[in-house]
Amino acid sequence: MGPMYRLYTCVTPFTDGTCRGSLDFIASPKMPRIEIGNQVEYGMLACSTCQAQYPVIAGIPILLAKPFAYLRENFSIIDRYLKYAGTPIPQVVKKHLFQVFLTMLRTPNEPVVQSRKGYEPHFLSCMLQRFLTYYQTYVADEWSEDFPLALPRPEQPDSLSGTLRAWLDAYAAEAKRGLDLGCNLGGYTFEMAGRQIESYGVDVSFEALHQAMLAARGRGYRFTAGDKHIHKPLEFHKAPCFTIGSAESLPFTDDSFDVVLSVNIVDILPQPQRMLTEIRRCLRPGGTVILTTPFMYFGEGTLALLDTYSGQLEQGLKQLCRSHGFTIAAEKDDIIWRLNEYARKIVLYRAYGLVLRAG
Ligand SMILES: C[S@@+](CC[C@H](N)C(=O)[O-])C[C@H]1O[C@@H](n2cnc3c(N)ncnc32)[C@H](O)[C@@H]1O
Ligand SMILES: [Zn+2]
Repeated sequence: MGPMYRLYTCVTPFTDGTCRGSLDFIASPKMPRIEIGNQVEYGMLACSTCQAQYPVIAGIPILLAKPFAYLRENFSIIDRYLKYAGTPIPQVVKKHLFQVFLTMLRTPNEPVVQSRKGYEPHFLSCMLQRFLTYYQTYVADEWSEDFPLALPRPEQPDSLSGTLRAWLDAYAAEAKRGLDLGCNLGGYTFEMAGRQIESYGVDVSFEALHQAMLAARGRGYRFTAGDKHIHKPLEFHKAPCFTIGSAESLPFTDDSFDVVLSVNIVDILPQPQRMLTEIRRCLRPGGTVILTTPFMYFGEGTLALLDTYSGQLEQGLKQLCRSHGFTIAAEKDDIIWRLNEYARKIVLYRAYGLVLRAG
């Protein structure tokens, strides 16, 4: 059991609450533990309380209530992605997983959170290339100074990254441990890690987290954007930990974090109030939350807030935060979020941000 698994907990839902048992690796002859260096690449975590099992795939623990359903739902894309990335899933692991999937076929299966949707298998290599380009330009949008397009950049202080940096300085200078929800490629997780904060990133996208992990191991992002090869070095004392998990049911023990980032995710969650409940639980009393949202595309979270607060998005979000025991320490309405959708398309969104304190 590495130190990174200390904070992780079981997320099995019971009628009287979530299990939250501690997790440890089990030795199974069918699903061996495969390590690279001192990191577990493949293995099985089990809950000490309810015995639920959680696989670790290519170094990423899948800590969802239905981890195998997630894996089965996303298996072909993950499998091909890892093959494409040059680190195919070992046969012995595949064999074991297929046995699990077979058992699942015989039992009713509930819907799961999907990693990514909509890629046609026969266009696979072209699609893989497309999503790599997507993520690679995505990573460049906010905090790469050297993105090759000569478009006017928003002034640093008003940009999303500028705002987050300023807020981390002002409100989380003493933080020892931080969580980044919906971390995607981990840009802001690394931002915390660079400040000597022990950092954790959570997302539902396997591919994004894998890229984040490669960046952690290689101490930098390496990618091609347009016709340029870009290397963005990352500096941190301790590499962040990345895990598949849901912002609505976090796989962490209570009071674990001094600071939680929720950057542009509340607008897409079906039940934003569940994320706030979970943040409150995992944050230590007096801890800080930095929450931003562009309220764009009318995601499910935006629609839920519109419904509940009669169209008053910003007021509604503040009310929701207060009702979850937070006080508002700062608010900013005109954050410029610059999104490189792909090499030749850049969109500027106006985002809204709050700094919250857990009372
Ligand atoms: C708009 S992106 C924001 C990424 C990152 N925070 C940033 O600002 O660069 C939203 C992210 O939330 C993730 N996501 C969606 N639903 C989630 C959930 N239930 N739990 C955790 N992450 C989720 C998506 O995979 C995606 O990476
Ligand atoms: Zn359990």
